[in-house]
Amino acid sequence: MTEEVAAPEEPASRVARVMTCALWGLETALITVEADVSNGLPNFAIVGLPDTAVSEARERVRAAIRNSGYEFPLRRIVVNLAPAERKKEGTGFDLAIALAILRASEQLRTDVLALCLGELALDGTLRPVRGVMPRVLRARENGIASALLPCESAPEAAALGCEAIALPTLRSAVDHLDGRVRRAPAPVPAAAAEPTWDVDLADVAGQDTPKRALEIVAAGGHNLLMIGPPGTGKTMLARALPSILPPLEPDEVLIASAIHSVAGLTDPDRPLLAARPFRAPHHTASRLALVGGGVPPRPGEVSLAHTGALFLDEIAEFPGKVLETLREPLEEGAVTISRAGAVATYPARFTLVAAQNPCPCGRLGDPAAQCSCLPDAISRYRSRLSEPLLDRIDLRVAVPRVPYRELRDRTEREASAAVRARVCRARARMRERLAGSGRRCNAEMTKRDVERYCELDEAGERMLGLAVSAKRMSARGFHRLLRVARTVADLADAERISSEHLATALLMRGDV
Ligand SMILES: Nc1ncnc2c1ncn2[C@@H]1O[C@H](COP(=O)(O)OP(=O)(O)OP(=O)(O)O)[C@@H](O)[C@H]1O
Ligand SMILES: [Mg+2]
Repeated sequence: MTEEVAAPEEPASRVARVMTCALWGLETALITVEADVSNGLPNFAIVGLPDTAVSEARERVRAAIRNSGYEFPLRRIVVNLAPAERKKEGTGFDLAIALAILRASEQLRTDVLALCLGELALDGTLRPVRGVMPRVLRARENGIASALLPCESAPEAAALGCEAIALPTLRSAVDHLDGRVRRAPAPVPAAAAEPTWDVDLADVAGQDTPKRALEIVAAGGHNLLMIGPPGTGKTMLARALPSILPPLEPDEVLIASAIHSVAGLTDPDRPLLAARPFRAPHHTASRLALVGGGVPPRPGEVSLAHTGALFLDEIAEFPGKVLETLREPLEEGAVTISRAGAVATYPARFTLVAAQNPCPCGRLGDPAAQCSCLPDAISRYRSRLSEPLLDRIDLRVAVPRVPYRELRDRTEREASAAVRARVCRARARMRERLAGSGRRCNAEMTKRDVERYCELDEAGERMLGLAVSAKRMSARGFHRLLRVARTVADLADAERISSEHLATALLMRGDV
């Protein structure tokens, strides 16, 4: 015999809490989504400074809950995104909001301890969100080692060692949490294979000086401009740069991969970058594409190139206004994008490699051809690169036409692997010298570093004095010259900068 037990009185209100993470640029903060479902006139409000996309979660969450076979409580629902002081953007909070409401209305029986990220479609399907990586890193720092995510986003989290549960729908999230259909964590994506390169330095005939310049650039992180007639290998040389760059250090892998994640450019098979990025935007790219921006803000090419290289082929074809926006990242190593009420900062420390013809027809200075450009057209073409921008390019080399005998020369040329080994050795010297300063390569040396570490021998001092007065070098130009000379010396495993090293730096500065 069973006795009828009176159902306990429904509590007037209960608050459920689910963790998610907000993103501003690369900056993150854990957010507690609090849902309170109480008696009162049916109403659904989201408070805690949501932006439009977050406010619109109301409609998505309501439809997704109903269309997943649950009841949307016809009571008074308040969702708070705490801490409330800063404006939240984007659509990534949907899953956390829906789960908090289901928990508060007892349709979900288990507390949610994992980080929840994901956008909901009206039918309850989970859609991927950008910026999973930096958010999972933040959660990890706060002791949250598991996450509930849309299927497409799970590999990014799993690559960081997070216990990532890949979920196709809202319903699958509830079933997993309540133990009806448990899901195993997503597998950790296979470690990235040793990268392969399209162009090897050994493929390039002649061009010893530009090759040397590339080696210096790869080692020291300096900027390079190559000027030469069409078809001499400028593009080819630039494309060989990734093959001689030093490998990414572990913290660089995380930050570069996180930037790609925020841009929505993560490769699900290989979420962590295996090599330094090499970005080559076309000259028709907009300012927004180059430096970033938009709503919500996305990183641009300069930030995607962070820790790697930005290649601007045919740099004179880029609109002047677009080029000027490069000054901030070149000087600061970061870009700040501000819009109404919100500021996002993205790191943007890259090696700039640019290529250009000497004049519009490309034949100026070529002994084998006649230039057909009017002097006016040449100076207009050259002035596209402003002085302040040129001033930030430490190495400028000519890429001349290769003589026939060099093109046909069958003797073995030095391969990228050998050059890369020298680059890595030089980088190790720099790292050791700058240890603890947060700077890693010679291009990043401050004025004080330059004074401390760029000691010249006697002949070097004399040569420097002559060069500075002969070229009427600015103080900035002088420091840049010494940084490049330091790299030349590091590539030669030399403690002190000799006059020979300085001569190479002067040659590479070539006012071509
Ligand atoms: N130094 C070289 N050694 C071997 N091949 C070369 C060399 N220079 C050019 N080539 C060949 O010519 C092709 C075109 O070269 P590339 O595009 O690098 O020239 P470029 O200097 O960038 O010309 P443009 O000014 O027209 O852009 C290359 O794909 C390569 O096959
Ligand atoms: Mg080219």
